[in-house]
Parts: sequence; C-alpha cells; structure tokens
Amino acid sequence: MACSENMFFLIGFFMSGVLACFGQRDLITTMPDRLDVLTGSCVQIPCSFDIPDLHKDKFNSAILLSGVWIKENPYFGERPDRVIFNSSETVNRYQGKITGNMSQKNCTTVFFNVTTSYSDIYYFRIESKPFRATDPEKSVYIDVRDLPSSPIISVSGEVKEGTPVSLNCSAFAPCPEHPPELTWILPTQFTTENQLHKNTDQTISVLSTMTFTPSYLHHEKNITCTAVYPVGTSNKTAEHNMMLNVSFSPKDTLASISPADSVSVGSCVNLTCSSTANPPVTNFTWFQISGGKTTQVASGLSYTLNVTAGDGGQYFCEARNSHGCGKSNEVQLAIKGQEETVNTMVFGIAAGTLGVLLLISLISVIGWRRNSRLHDGLERTDSPQGQNSPVGTVCTNQATAGEEPEEPAEDQPEEIQYGDIDFSKLQTKEIPAAAQDRVQGQESEYAEVNVTGRGAQEPPLNNLDGLYAQVNKTGGC
Ligand SMILES: *[C@@H]1O[C@H](CO)[C@@H](O)[C@H](O)[C@H]1NC(C)=O
Ligand SMILES: *[C@@H]1O[C@H](CO)[C@@H](O)[C@H](O)[C@H]1NC(C)=O
Ligand SMILES: *[C@@H]1O[C@H](CO)[C@@H](O)[C@H](O)[C@H]1NC(C)=O
Ligand SMILES: *[C@@H]1O[C@H](CO)[C@@H](O)[C@H](O)[C@H]1NC(C)=O
Ligand SMILES: *[C@@H]1O[C@H](CO)[C@@H](O)[C@H](O)[C@H]1NC(C)=O
Ligand SMILES: *[C@@H]1O[C@H](CO)[C@@H](O)[C@H](O)[C@H]1NC(C)=O
Ligand SMILES: *[C@@H]1O[C@H](CO)[C@@H](O)[C@H](O)[C@H]1NC(C)=O
Ligand SMILES: *[C@@H]1O[C@H](CO)[C@@H](O)[C@H](O)[C@H]1NC(C)=O
Ligand SMILES: *[C@@H]1O[C@H](CO)[C@@H](O)[C@H](O)[C@H]1NC(C)=O
Ligand SMILES: *[C@@H]1O[C@H](CO)[C@@H](O)[C@H](O)[C@H]1NC(C)=O
Ligand SMILES: *[C@@H]1O[C@H](CO)[C@@H](O)[C@H](O)[C@H]1NC(C)=O
Repeated sequence: MACSENMFFLIGFFMSGVLACFGQRDLITTMPDRLDVLTGSCVQIPCSFDIPDLHKDKFNSAILLSGVWIKENPYFGERPDRVIFNSSETVNRYQGKITGNMSQKNCTTVFFNVTTSYSDIYYFRIESKPFRATDPEKSVYIDVRDLPSSPIISVSGEVKEGTPVSLNCSAFAPCPEHPPELTWILPTQFTTENQLHKNTDQTISVLSTMTFTPSYLHHEKNITCTAVYPVGTSNKTAEHNMMLNVSFSPKDTLASISPADSVSVGSCVNLTCSSTANPPVTNFTWFQISGGKTTQVASGLSYTLNVTAGDGGQYFCEARNSHGCGKSNEVQLAIKGQEETVNTMVFGIAAGTLGVLLLISLISVIGWRRNSRLHDGLERTDSPQGQNSPVGTVCTNQATAGEEPEEPAEDQPEEIQYGDIDFSKLQTKEIPAAAQDRVQGQESEYAEVNVTGRGAQEPPLNNLDGLYAQVNKTGGC
C-alpha cells in the first residue's frame, strides 16, 4: 500500500516536471549541433520545428509565418542587431533564404557568401499573427573556415589479395548546391560510384564508393581521396591519405644453402628459407628431393644438418601463413666423392690424370652435362615466378592460385604499376653484383650465375612484412 502510494507520488512529480519543462519551451526546433562551413561558400542549415500541445491551438499553419534567425543569444529585446535574418524583411544582415516549406514545419535555411564573422551560435524563431516564439534550448554552431576539413576514408573488413574490396570516402557538403567532387588516387585500376548521402542530423555528405582488387604489391602503398570544393571561381581541396594493409600468402620464398659448394660427409650444412607474407609466415617446412622422391625433412626457418651419405640431393622450403603458402626454389646439397654431383674438382682430377684412364674422361663428360643442367635450375629461380618450380608438392596449387589474380595484364595502368615495382626490386637487388661485374669486365652470363648466389650472401632488399634470415657462411653445427 505504502509502496504504491509512493509510486503515484513519484510519477506525479515526474510528470509535473516534464510539463513545467515543456511549458517554458514554446517552440521545439531540431537542427544539427554544428556545421563546418567554407568562407565564400554557402551554408544550408537543416531545420524543422514543432509546437508543444499547449500552444497547438494558437498555431495555424495556413497563416503566413515568418522565420527569424538570431545570433549569439536568443534574447534580442535589447539588442535588435542580433536578428540577422527575418524572412518578412526584404533586406537582412545576412543574405539568405528559407528553402523549407514553413507550412510543413520545415525551417531549412541557406545563407550565402559566408564570411568568418559568421562563426557563432544561432537560434530560430517563428512569428505569426497570434503566436510568436523562440526556442532558447536549441542552437546551431556555425564554424566558418578558410580550408575544408579532410574527407574520411573507411574500410570494412580485411583487405585481402585477389578479393575485390570497397572503400568509402565521405566529405561534408555544407553547401549542397556546390558539393565537393571526390577523386581517388590508387596504384591500380578501380571503379567508383558517387552519391549524395543524408546523415542522421540531416546534413548532406558526398559519398564515393571505390572498388578495386588488391594485390600483395599494393601492401603499404598509399591511397588518397581528394575533395575539391568549388568556391566562387576557385577550388579548395582537402585530402585523406591511407596506407593499405593487404594480407597475402607467402611471396618471394627463397631457399639458400651454406656452404654452397660440395661438402664432405660429417660436415655441417645450413639451409635457410626466407619469405615475405602478411601476416608473417608461421610455418617453414623443408623437403628433400632424392631419387625422384619428395620427403618432408624438417620444419623451421633454418635447417642444419651434419651431413650423412644419404643427405645429398635437392632441397626446397615451403612458407605458410593463414592465407596460403609459397614454395621456394630448389638448392643442391652436393656431397664430395659421390658421383651424383660432379664439380670443377672432377675436372681437375681428370686433367691431372689426363690420358691415363678413358673412364674418367667419360665421367667428366657426364658431369659437365649435369653441371649445366644445374645452372639452368638456378637461373630459373632468378625470375619473379621462380618459386613455382614444376616439382609437384603440397604447396604448388595454393601458391599458384594466390598469384594468378595479380597478373590480369589486360589493363594498361595496372601493368605499368607492376612493371615499375618489379623493375625497382630487381634493380636494387642486382646493383651490387652488376656493378662488381662491370669493374671486373666479366660478361653478363657470369653475372647471372653470381646473382643467383646472392640469396646466400645478402638479405632480401624488401621492406614488406615478413621473416628474413641471412645465411651465416661460417656457421658450424
Ligand atoms: C520581422 O519582420 C516583421 C515585418 O517587418 C516585423 O514585424 C517583425 O517584428 C520582425 N521580427 C523581428 C524579430 O525583428
Ligand atoms: C525541408 O526542406 C529542405 C529544402 O527544401 C528539403 O531538402 C528537406 O528534405 C525538407 N525536410 C523535410 C523533413 O521534408
Ligand atoms: C507547402 O506545404 C503546403 C501544405 O503541405 C502546400 O499546400 C504548399 O503548396 C507547399 N508550398 C510549397 C512552395 O511547396
Ligand atoms: C556574394 O558576394 C559577391 C560579392 O561579394 C556577389 O557578387 C555575389 O552575388 C554574392 N552571391 C550571392 C549568392 O549572394
Ligand atoms: C559505404 O557506404 C555504403 C552506403 O552508405 C554502406 O552501405 C557501406 O557499408 C559503406 N562501406 C564502408 C566500408 O564503410
Ligand atoms: C576546379 O575543379 C574542377 C574539378 O573538380 C575543375 O574542372 C576546374 O577546372 C577547377 N577550377 C579551378 C579554377 O581550378
Ligand atoms: C603515405 O601516407 C602517410 C600518411 O598516412 C604519409 O606520412 C606518407 O608520407 C605517405 N607516403 C607517400 C609515399 O605518399
Ligand atoms: C657430425 O657427426 C659425426 C658423427 O656423429 C661427428 O663425429 C662429427 O663431429 C659431427 N660433426 C660436427 C661438425 O658436429
Ligand atoms: C595489417 O594486417 C595484418 C593482418 O590482417 C595485421 O596482423 C596487422 O596488424 C596489420 N597492420 C597494421 C599496421 O594495421
Ligand atoms: C607446418 O607445416 C607442415 C606441413 O604442412 C606440418 O606438417 C607441420 O605440422 C606444421 N607445423 C606447424 C607448427 O604448424
Ligand atoms: C643457419 O643460418 C641461420 C640464419 O642465418 C642462423 O640463424 C643459424 O645460426 C645458422 N645455423 C648454423 C648452425 O650455422
């Protein structure tokens, strides 16, 4: 009993408070809290009003209404100069126009030729024959600046290689009669769709939706959205830069071996894998190809073996992250004394025992053939797609699938962009070796061979996210 009495009392108290509040407010206006405006341009103030029930009878929408804008303070009795616009007057301090239909309680207003002195807060008032009221509770702050604010780029979800992605760029259009024009700058081809967008506070924005297909070559490249605002006879621009974060499967996967020459049984060999990926590689796996069979032999960035007779053969690594995997080139582990691999030493022995044994010269011929085949293999690794050697493994399919969308090759700008990147990459990598060769007067064929060996001597000159390792030439077991 006591409880419900208390509740009635509380509800009654609350209701009277609300009524008292509405009683003081003879007019209820709705407009944005704030508008950022450009000097020399116009400003549209989205505005609507309502009459509290208490005064509904006094308000007749059929009677011509005046709309009045008051600057700084809603009380203008002592300060008539605060009235900067009165729709019933033909001459006003501010050039403007109520574009909304006042009969429909729409008080949307446009002021032209805005100057910095317009920066202030503004109140709205209606005047009709029996009823006049100002809303002192709601005002709009107009901030007039010489330069536009930057547009805003938004991305939803992950930017993944090969998957088309849409980005929005949005710029305020405080003067919807002269909306800004949005343009994008991207390192690749894209399509855009522009539209006017009404925000929840009824202000207008220009929205540009851009769609493109990212490639790993776009990772950490900047994209720009520029808004050009026409103001009088000139333009004012603002832009937003954003760095792309493209996630991609491992690329440029390289296997290297140290020492690169043939080794004796019982000595140490260090195999090292490098790759670039976003997110970084989580799993490196090593495979051996011996006698036509591919066997998984180890996991980890580097694989160190104390060489036994069965370790000779070709090795490659596989790098894996959440987006797929990349397969490296193959490196040869040659064991001294095994006829499997014959190097220059055999030529030396053959030369030393020249004319003694026909058999040895026969072996030399075979060895020469194998050696040149090995060179072919190494040269292949130097090409950008070198990691896709034809040997069938677990990885080949995914690696190819991941790389295919990056070579559409049908659109010119994209091709040029890829060309640029590839060229600069190759150039930075090759400069030291090439320069050295020129000094020594060697011919280019030698340079090729030398370049293929660089993987074992230099870290990859690539600043993408990833894991790298430099092979330690003097490393022991
Ligand atoms: C607006 O203009 C009308 C017509 O001149 C005038 O009667 C009224 O007082 C003006 N209102 C204000 C607030 O100055
Ligand atoms: C009010 O008038 C403006 C200008 O004519 C118009 O753009 C806007 O849509 C109107 N608002 C409503 C709620 O009808
Ligand atoms: C304003 O609205 C009223 C009532 O809805 C309508 O009769 C009148 O034609 C409108 N005026 C304009 C200029 O659209
Ligand atoms: C803005 O002002 C310029 C001169 O200052 C005038 O020529 C132009 O007509 C004005 N524009 C509007 C829309 O009132
Ligand atoms: C881009 O804008 C459209 C239309 O407002 C919206 O549907 C979409 O979710 C927005 N996308 C992003 C990435 O913000
Ligand atoms: C303003 O920008 C538009 C494109 O947005 C361009 O066509 C026009 O030439 C530019 N005007 C000036 C004066 O720079
Ligand atoms: C890329 O954008 C960042 C800001 O996001 C900027 O600091 C950097 O200079 C820009 N780089 C280029 C090459 O434009
Ligand atoms: C390699 O293994 C053999 C036999 O276990 C051992 O004698 C030799 O010292 C090892 N070599 C190195 C470099 O550890
Ligand atoms: C880029 O994306 C990757 C993978 O989605 C994420 O792990 C990384 O933190 C992001 N980097 C930045 C700078 O946002
Ligand atoms: C790495 O990948 C190999 C081959 O796919 C797999 O056998 C191994 O379990 C993986 N290791 C980890 C730590 O994921
Ligand atoms: C193998 O090379 C890696 C990468 O440089 C290095 O961290 C590691 O210590 C080397 N291992 C041996 C045994 O030399």
